Amino acid sequence: MGSSLPPGAEPRQIWVCQHRNCQAQGSEGLLAAFVSVMGEAMVRGCECQGQCNLGATVRVLPDQVWYCRVKVADVPEIIETHIRGDRRSIGCFTLGSMARGL
Ligand code: FES
Repeated sequence: MGSSLPPGAEPRQIWVCQHRNCQAQGSEGLLAAFVSVMGEAMVRGCECQGQCNLGATVRVLPDQVWYCRVKVADVPEIIETHIRGDRRSIGCFTLGSMARGL
């Protein structure tokens, strides 16, 4: 489970919204897909993340990088590029870009 966070940094967590709008977009399967690859210690289902029209939403902490309209087919790319490769994947934004309306 390679992640190249600096020493002392908080371990990464992947939060997958399990509230109703995201569930309607398949977030239960999305959560299962992340858990199957990364394990339960790193992945958790969470309450509404306040981006219901962009579901299913996934947030990677402590990076504060969001992925929206995520499908199960996107899971390998997010894991390989962001979690293992330490690069952001496609379809993501940060809290700063949200504030700028991007
Ligand atoms: S229902 Fe998932 S962000 Fe609100």
